[in-house]
Parts: sequence; structure tokens; C-alpha cells
Amino acid sequence: MRPVALDDARLAALAREHGTPLYVYDAATIRARHAALAGFDVVRYAAKANPNLTLLKLLRNLGASIDVVSAGEIERAFAAGFPAERIVFTADLFDRAALERVGRHGLHVNVGSQAMLAQLADARPGGSVTLRINPGFGDGHHAKVTTGGELSKHGIWHADLAGAIDEARSRGFAVTGLHVHVGSGANFESLCASGELLARSARLVGDTLRTISCGGGLPVRYRPTDLEFDVARYARAWREHARAIEAFTRRPIELEIEPGRWLVAECGVLVAEVRATKRQGEREFVLVDAGFHNLVRPTMYGAYHEIRALAKTGGERPTIVAGPLCESADVFTQGQDGEFAPIPLPPLAPGDFVALHDVGAYGSSMASNYNSQPLAAEVLIDGARSWLVRRRQSFDELLAPEREL
Ligand code: LLP
Repeated sequence: MRPVALDDARLAALAREHGTPLYVYDAATIRARHAALAGFDVVRYAAKANPNLTLLKLLRNLGASIDVVSAGEIERAFAAGFPAERIVFTADLFDRAALERVGRHGLHVNVGSQAMLAQLADARPGGSVTLRINPGFGDGHHAKVTTGGELSKHGIWHADLAGAIDEARSRGFAVTGLHVHVGSGANFESLCASGELLARSARLVGDTLRTISCGGGLPVRYRPTDLEFDVARYARAWREHARAIEAFTRRPIELEIEPGRWLVAECGVLVAEVRATKRQGEREFVLVDAGFHNLVRPTMYGAYHEIRALAKTGGERPTIVAGPLCESADVFTQGQDGEFAPIPLPPLAPGDFVALHDVGAYGSSMASNYNSQPLAAEVLIDGARSWLVRRRQSFDELLAPEREL
């Protein structure tokens, strides 16, 4: 989906004003995606998708809660104004910095391994916990993002859940939540199947249960041929499970969803400037100033992102779009095995701009300083207005943590 407000002329103007590479996010798209989740009682944004403070604040103002997975994300959640009650820490382990913050702020924890229960009992004794179930199967747009089944490190193995519930109770915790997340970019059927398992597991918890979470993982349409996810139908399927659980707990069960990609992927565009073009044998290359340090998804998963030339048409030919990094994998147009997947583009020259679409999720959040490239700037637009919400990292900042011996 292309944000309507991000037309070519505007993107080019922003690129000229702020330089490239530049991420541009559209607030209206995020609001629309959030509104589509009205069938759920709690929308918990998975901050890892894009933890920019302004986006966090926007989602907080829409009423979203937040899922954090590290000490850094806890710091961000507080900086964006989330109260402690709206923060859940989800992980399969506590590193020391995260455990200290969980204890200090009394944060609710979605526990992914039994070892965490003993550590939590020391750092934040008593209170409630959620248990994350590994349902024994998973799904996702790539094997690397499948989070259920024997090959996944995530969650408490479904057959061990009864033992984990006993351990939680014996350590003084009330189990108030059950959670499942089968993977990222999963299909409708797998996402629903995890609901059946969770509903059965709820019987093991009994009447302390208050919340069930179906996790995130909702797919978005990276290609025009991808199907639209029927989110209203999905909410109805899970609501049925919540009702079935209410029938035996005799208390209201809150239905929670925890998406990252669904909320922010489509709001974002990465604008890059063409700096060179070349022909290698029969292959046409366009080299731009953004690389896998800005968007690693094609290199890491063979993920497809639509790429367009801004304000240029005609004479299209199969083109490979690559970045500036000294590594052959720095190509945006590649398939799952790293094979080139050229896309039709008009003839381009240095100084032209290209836009890479649907980069709002797992774009800047997975960025790196590889090749000592500074982290890129981020702009938010809302209607006719725009703001720089993260300035480009300076070279002084890049070098600051180091010292020469
Ligand atoms: N909840 C839990 C427990 C998760 O592990 C994740 C994602 C989410 C929610 C949010 O998933 P989403 O709704 O965004 O699919 N870097 C990969 C995605 C990795 C997701 C990891 N966990 C990518 O670029 O596709």
C-alpha cells in the first residue's frame, strides 16, 4: 500500500531538504492501521518494528499499549510517555539491564522460559505474569522469522506449560495471561490455529486468567498480488476463543493483539539518491546511496520491497538496484537464495531519486553502522506538515564511544 500523502514531488523535496538516505513516515497510514484493529480490546505495539520516539508517542496517543524486548526498548517506552501499566516485557531471557528495570518499575512480564520465573521472583516478587506458549508449530514469511515449533528458541513448549504454571504459582505469581506468537508475516490459518491451542491451554490456568494475546505476525501487502489480511475476521475468530474461556473462568477475558509490521510497515518509504549506473555484461545496475545498513530485509530474507524511480517514467528495462557497501550482498533486488531479481525501471542517472516502499517496519530498527555509514535521518509527515523526527547521525557521534590507545 502506498501512502497517498507521499507523492513523488513531495518525497523529492524532502530528500533535497534533509539529504539521503531518508526514511519518510506517514502518520495517517499508522492511524488507519490502528483503527482497523478495533475488534481487539488491547492493541500492544511491538516496538521492535520501529522504535522511533515520535511513532511510539503517536501510537500511545491513539491508545495503544507497548511490547518491549530489551532494556533499551524499556527506556524508549518511558521516554515516549507510556505509563508502566501499559508496558509488557516479552523475552525468553532477562539480561541484567532489563531485569533491573523490570524490578525497578514493576513491569509485567510475558515469560518465555521457566528460568525467567526464578529470576523474576528475586527482582520483582509476587504479582502477576503472562506465559508465552510455543504451540509446537510456527509460520512466517521466512524460516528465520518463524517463532513456533522445535526449531524455535521462543516460548514455553506447550507440553511443559502445566509445569510452568505450577512453578509460577509456587514462586508466588498469579498467572493472569497466556500468549502465543507463531511467527512474523504468518498466514491466516496458522495464526488462527494457535488460538485453538491457546484456548485449550487456558483450562490449565483456570480462573486467574484475565488476558489472552494472539501475538503479532499479521502479514502486509508488499506486492500488489499479496492478499489483504482479513483482520475483522481474524478478530472474530479470536473473540470466539475468548468467549469460550469466559464460559469457564466466569470472568471477562481481555483480547490482546501485538503487531509491529501491521501498524507501521506501509507508512514508510526510504528515499535514496542514484549515485552511479553501470552495465556488467548484460546486467543493468543502478547504485544508490542507501544499502543494507538502512534496509537489511532483502539481504537477510530475500524480502521484496517495491522500488520506484521518483518522477521518471518510460523506457523501462530490467534493473538491479544496489547500495554503496563493500559487499556483493548489498542488493535490494534479490530473491530468497540471494539470486538477482531485476525490476523494471526507467533509465536513471546520478542525482535521480528512488523510493523503496513499505520500510516502516524493520527498516531503520535493523539499521547498522556497517562500513561506518551513519544512521539515516527520519521524517514524519501528517497531512501537509512534516517534521524531522531523527536527525542523521553525525560522524562525531559515530566515533564518540571509541578511544585510541
Ligand atoms: N510479538 C512477538 C513476541 C514477536 O517476537 C514479534 C516479532 C512481534 C510481536 C511482532 O511481529 P510482527 O507483527 O511485526 O510480525 N525482522 C523481521 C521480523 C522479525 C520479527 C520478530 N518478532 C522482518 O523484517 O521481517
